[in-house]
Amino acid sequence: MADPKTQGLVVGVVGCGAMGQGIIQVSLQGGLKVVAYDAKDGGAEAGVAKVIELLDRLVEKERISAADAEAMKAALTVAADISDLAPCQLVVEAVFEDIGVKHEVFGKLEAVVAQDAILASNTSSLPIGSIARPLKHPERVAGLHFFNPVPLMRLVEVIKGPATSDEVIEALKTIGDRMGRVPVVVKDSPGFLVNLGGRAFTTEGLALHHEQVATEAQIDAIMRDCAHFRMGPFELMDLTGIDVNYPVSMIVFEQFLNDPRLHTFPHHRALYEAGRFGRKTGIGHFRYDGKGQKIDPPSPDYLTDAAPAEVVACATPEDTELAAVIEQLGLVVRPDDGALPILATFHGEDATGFAFRTGTDPKRLVAIDATGDTSKRLTLMQTPGANRSCLDAVAAAVSAKGIAATVIGDSPGFVLQRMRAMIANLGCEMAQIGLATPQDIDTAMKLGLNYPMGPLEIVEDLGADRTFTILQELQAATGDPRYRPSLWLRRRALLGLSAHTAG
Ligand SMILES: NC(=O)c1ccc[n+]([C@@H]2O[C@H](COP(=O)([O-])OP(=O)(O)OC[C@H]3O[C@@H](n4cnc5c(N)ncnc54)[C@H](O)[C@@H]3O)[C@@H](O)[C@H]2O)c1
Repeated sequence: MADPKTQGLVVGVVGCGAMGQGIIQVSLQGGLKVVAYDAKDGGAEAGVAKVIELLDRLVEKERISAADAEAMKAALTVAADISDLAPCQLVVEAVFEDIGVKHEVFGKLEAVVAQDAILASNTSSLPIGSIARPLKHPERVAGLHFFNPVPLMRLVEVIKGPATSDEVIEALKTIGDRMGRVPVVVKDSPGFLVNLGGRAFTTEGLALHHEQVATEAQIDAIMRDCAHFRMGPFELMDLTGIDVNYPVSMIVFEQFLNDPRLHTFPHHRALYEAGRFGRKTGIGHFRYDGKGQKIDPPSPDYLTDAAPAEVVACATPEDTELAAVIEQLGLVVRPDDGALPILATFHGEDATGFAFRTGTDPKRLVAIDATGDTSKRLTLMQTPGANRSCLDAVAAAVSAKGIAATVIGDSPGFVLQRMRAMIANLGCEMAQIGLATPQDIDTAMKLGLNYPMGPLEIVEDLGADRTFTILQELQAATGDPRYRPSLWLRRRALLGLSAHTAG
């Protein structure tokens, strides 16, 4: 195999569509030579023209020099026939997501390139083992999974198929680096890393919506304000397109043999069936105008004219996070007199379960999620049939401090604890099945999905024992194996170890 650091390394790109163009651009910017091929008449020329246009724009914006752009253009050639890829030391395939088409392309490539050339696929969902199966040299086949838009998304997943050699993986890591990407080595498993790890955020949002715990706008606002996600799960689904994320959810769920942790919900399918794909169709979870702006989005905030509470009772005085919230709101805590709103916070329980367990008056209980960032938004929750005036008085005290109040239906783990615990649990499970190293799982989820923290970092932030408790409570309350804690998490919680502890 050619030295992946060699100056004149030639990369072939097969398929010059959206992804192929991005791969051509980052290869050129990394100083590699590129031969571009597309089966469609004029397809490669059109793809290459778009890359050149983008390079020229980078020169205008002074991101690259004119001399560098000219050198990149000189390093780029169009192949008239697939046999013109013969000099390539690496070929990256980015054709249609169809196993028959991929087999045809790889079969032709195998007959054309040198025996030690690497053949990589940018597939999002086809196992590398299936793509390599009919080939004479499956050890040189790997996944090189880029993210869209390639030049802006720094992550590249390097997928090790069942036959891929270590040498090929090391070479792809080096070449990925040269392309200015951050390569993360991932096992050949359904959805690879990012498309699997991303399931928790969207499907647990849908679970909360399914149970009528909160509206889409409320869940989105909580995830943005209290956990610093750039977008909530519903705005994200509408942006990526329900025509994309519903089928991906189903593929990952089915390929994991119907693991209940991964299933989506009927509303997701209903939107898909109705052609309500999100921004691109003007309607999905929300409605959009022609510029992609939401039309009349529902408010996530609870508004009341009630007089703000000044004095409250507290059923969990030992909780330091709740104590900080009480101080933030300027409330005075007094012993319960039979009429005061009773504040409490808990982890993984619902308000009903907490009131029942502790003997707290369920009518006056106002549960507050004190985890996460409470400076912009606080989530309040009551039992069914509770006294609304207690809730209103506390919500008014929250609003009076310039903090938004979101009132949700009774739910084990509120919204934030539940969402974060599910993201964390799936990250732990990915570590448990050896999909990638714990550090790489965090890196991939941050770079591939713009998460503010990786899933194992969420465990560290929330605490392994608390994350474990939230999931156990969720599983106990719902009886649903969807919420069963990963063994990875269980062991680290019981032993008091960091979530990143290997082994
Ligand atoms: N679009 C994304 O967000 C994204 C992200 C990651 C991975 N992927 C994967 O990348 C691959 C390409 O996706 P895309 O969005 O660029 O698709 P695309 O439809 O934009 O481009 C595919 C290109 O491949 C060409 N092609 C088809 N059959 C060919 C063949 N036999 N030989 C040579 N060229 C052929 C087509 O003419 C077209 O130009 C797919 O496997 C997809 O799953 C896509």
